[in-house]
Amino acid sequence: MILLETRNLFVSVKNRQILKGLNLQVKKGEKIIILGSNGAGKTTLIESIMGFVKPDKGSIFFIGKELKTEEDFKCLRRSIGYVFQNPEDQLFSPTVEEELAFAPINLGISSEKTEELIEQTLKLFKIEHLRHRNIHDLSGGEKRLVSIACVLTMNPEALILDEPSAYLDDENVRLVAQFLNETEKTVIVTTHDKEFVKLLGWKTYLLKNGVLHIS
Ligand SMILES: Nc1ncnc2c1ncn2[C@@H]1O[C@H](COP(=O)(O)OP(=O)(O)O)[C@@H](O)[C@H]1O
Ligand SMILES: [Mg+2]
Repeated sequence: MILLETRNLFVSVKNRQILKGLNLQVKKGEKIIILGSNGAGKTTLIESIMGFVKPDKGSIFFIGKELKTEEDFKCLRRSIGYVFQNPEDQLFSPTVEEELAFAPINLGISSEKTEELIEQTLKLFKIEHLRHRNIHDLSGGEKRLVSIACVLTMNPEALILDEPSAYLDDENVRLVAQFLNETEKTVIVTTHDKEFVKLLGWKTYLLKNGVLHIS
């Protein structure tokens, strides 16, 4: 089953055409890498899929349904967890604990289950010690791990991570790669980090000149 698809996607940023007829199909359970140099349009592609950037032309399908309205994209955003390239754009709560509790509480999950989710995700990324810290005081790498943990508390069906290895030291890059390799979720990772690509070893597309090339 195809979970996510873009057809003939054209997207401009500040009057410059960045995506030029981009086609992508991601099957349920599939894991793919979108490799591309800085400025290739990786973030633009992800933001279009998530409904934050409006394409000039082309269509986006989620579980066979073309996404047209803001309501359609809201539905997609409940099923796909999006880890932003810059964690500062994603995190907004005062403390790590509040940030991790935000999604479950909004989804109406019980406080016992929320506590369980917080403990699980902190443990997964070995950041239990950050639980009561101010987000503001965390390092870039710590913010990255918190931002991935946060997205997981929503229990999304799929994950999109935009340059997840950025800001992380080698040990945490391996930890994140291990988690991504083990999860049963559908995953899209964008990166320009060839070492990270090797750790994942997934099907890789190169984003160049506004379209994807199998690499
Ligand atoms: N907010 C913005 N203002 C101006 N130009 C932008 C903005 N966001 C992206 N761009 C430009 O769009 C192009 C694609 O950017 P982006 O999608 O961020 O690439 P990547 O994520 O692959 O590094 C780049 O040339 C970048 O400079
Ligand atoms: Mg980017």
